[in-house]
Amino acid sequence: MVKLCCIGAGYVGGPTMAVIALKCPSIEVAVVDISIPRISAWNSEQLPIYEPGLDDVVKQCRGKNLFFSTNVEKHVAEADIVFVSVNTPTKSQGLGAGKAADLTYWESAARMIADVSKSAKIVVEKSTVPVKTAEAIEKILTHNSKSINFQILSNPEFLAEGTAIQDLFNPDRVLIGGRETPEGLKAIQALKEVYQHWVPEERIICSNLWSAELSKLAANAFLAQRISSVNAMSALCEATGADVSQVSHAVGKDTRIGPKFLNASVGFGGSCFQKDILNLVYICECNGLPEVANYWKQVIKINDYQKARFVNRVVSSMFNTVSGKKIGILGFAFKKDTGDTRETPAIDVCRGLLVDKAQLSIYDPQVSQDQIQKDITMVKFDWEHPVLLKPVSPTALKQVDFVWDAYEASKDAHGICILTEWDEFKTLDFQRIYDNMQKPAFVFDGRNVVDPNKLREIGFIVYSIGKPLDQWLKDLPAVA
Ligand code: UDX
Ligand code: UDX
Ligand code: ADP
Repeated sequence: MVKLCCIGAGYVGGPTMAVIALKCPSIEVAVVDISIPRISAWNSEQLPIYEPGLDDVVKQCRGKNLFFSTNVEKHVAEADIVFVSVNTPTKSQGLGAGKAADLTYWESAARMIADVSKSAKIVVEKSTVPVKTAEAIEKILTHNSKSINFQILSNPEFLAEGTAIQDLFNPDRVLIGGRETPEGLKAIQALKEVYQHWVPEERIICSNLWSAELSKLAANAFLAQRISSVNAMSALCEATGADVSQVSHAVGKDTRIGPKFLNASVGFGGSCFQKDILNLVYICECNGLPEVANYWKQVIKINDYQKARFVNRVVSSMFNTVSGKKIGILGFAFKKDTGDTRETPAIDVCRGLLVDKAQLSIYDPQVSQDQIQKDITMVKFDWEHPVLLKPVSPTALKQVDFVWDAYEASKDAHGICILTEWDEFKTLDFQRIYDNMQKPAFVFDGRNVVDPNKLREIGFIVYSIGKPLDQWLKDLPAVA
């Protein structure tokens, strides 16, 4: 029986290994992590991450050929293939701070693999790491290995949160990068055989190590660029009276462009886009390509601009002050169907409103109060960011209230901000919400989930990203 081990039981490692276990009953899969609470949760009824369909997959294989454990060294020692899926956050200090990936966790995982291995292994890079990390890891492994043969592969993960199980069941492609030596090709083949249990061969792409690593950064940069492009267009639509949904529909009909990832929003979030672009920027700068670095940086700058613009719309609409006013925040996660809040635009919007002394009442169906408190007060590295990202002092949490119901969040509020496109927000009883709000009652829809005209009929003043403005907003001085 082939044995797989995955170091890191997070958003990537957990679902990916669960699906491999489900699709490959002949393979034994161990997912290991240094975090005891995380592993206990994986072994409980309440999995540590919310992902539609995941519970089902885990229940079918856990205890059969899927195991979650904190006994990292034992499982690594026994495995034929070791996936490394540890976190690679952006460095917060030292060389490359704010841009380069922090490889501390990766390096310690690699050293541990070298330490405990007694037989040849294929080591698979699964987390997003900058180009040439595999080479660094290879060096660590070969210099510490007591002549054990290690083959390094890069197998970037393209799953998106909220649709992880679907994406894993039916991936657009699986990418495997490796050395172009006989041993390297053999390792690529071994991993390919794992995926071939369910992925059609033509969707499994093989390349050299560096191409695989760079493809992951490039794919995320291209996706984020589409959102920044449509968001930049949304500002122009608001200024001119065009409707961004109509524009993106028309643009997306061109088969060379395609319809996906053209939804204007309050900004993209998530653990990958910003981090990967910052990585790309850093790599370009290190390679003496400042023009290319600046080109990609602009994608993040537009994202920051979009969040700042949203806050400005809220404050300027409400007579230029939200001080002491209750504002209901509907949605905090970075997208629907996940409880993940990493880089969610809601953090920056809430901070911007708190700085202006608003009273926030936050509701998200999957995010805990504890998480939101941590996010709002967290000190982030100030990457050439505008004012919004200034940390908010813990005392500002007095201005924040957490509720488990959208109606409660909007009760007596002057305005509501929709920051995540949860399906349940589409079917709220807005008449009931309106009746319980202060007047004039404002809705700021950062995800274009409501029909602005229907809400206007009820009496709301509505701002939707990139849509024609209400007279109320038109009469205000232009926002920058
Ligand atoms: C373009 C639009 O495609 C068309 O829809 C619009 O109506 C008019 O402008 P055109 O300028 O005729 O059409 O040619 P197009 O095929 O778009 O190519 C434009 C330029 O981009 C060419 O110089 C082409 O060589 C270049 N190109 C195109 C690339 O360098 N790489 C590509 O992948 C595609
Ligand atoms: C992304 C990539 O899609 C995935 O392939 C990669 O492996 C990891 O990074 P993820 O961050 O989970 O996945 O979510 P994604 O669906 O890409 O959304 C990212 C952000 O963009 C979200 O905040 C989302 O709301 C926003 N978005 C997405 C838009 O604002 N408009 C769109 O049209 C699409
Ligand atoms: P991702 O979104 O990339 O999956 P997460 O932060 O969700 O990232 O998961 C990464 C996991 O890796 C965390 O649960 C963390 O505890 C784990 N981890 C980090 N370093 C090590 C290590 N050296 N050994 C085992 N697990 C590790």
